[in-house]
Amino acid sequence: MKILFICLGNICRSPMAEAIFNHKARQLDQENWASFSAGTGNYHIGDRPDSRTLHVLSQKGIESTSRAQNISSYNPHDFDFWVAMDTSNLEDTRQAYPEIGDRLVLMTDFDPISPGKPVPDPYWGDIPDFEEVFTILDRSMDRFIQHLQEASPGI
Ligand code: 4NP
Repeated sequence: MKILFICLGNICRSPMAEAIFNHKARQLDQENWASFSAGTGNYHIGDRPDSRTLHVLSQKGIESTSRAQNISSYNPHDFDFWVAMDTSNLEDTRQAYPEIGDRLVLMTDFDPISPGKPVPDPYWGDIPDFEEVFTILDRSMDRFIQHLQEASPGI
């Protein structure tokens, strides 16, 4: 199972989602699950995640090895699911790769508290905004993983 998480800059939200997914997959011994992340923008290509993303992750004991890339680095068939952080990421990805079809989803489609509400862009905010993003991603990821397990029993 290969997943691509998508945001705008690929330095705040999607690398956090990637790190959370990979951490949870390891905890579940899902050795064949891997996630990656990419941005719809080109502003930060090659950059490590924002220091505030790394800070919030490290407080939870989670590491990230991500370097920012654009979605154009990937092929539409490279992933089982493409998971966008907000509706503009979703629309930009849909426009670039219409053939992804229903394998393109919104992260918060799986949010049990605020389904469908975008993961807010924390870039112009502060640590509490990054902590809020972590909380949203953490609870949405549990449902997303449940969805993957139901879709592929035994994997
Ligand atoms: P992200 O946040 O999409 O969650 O990585 C952003 C990072 C950088 C910019 C915008 C959003 N930027 O405009 O540089």
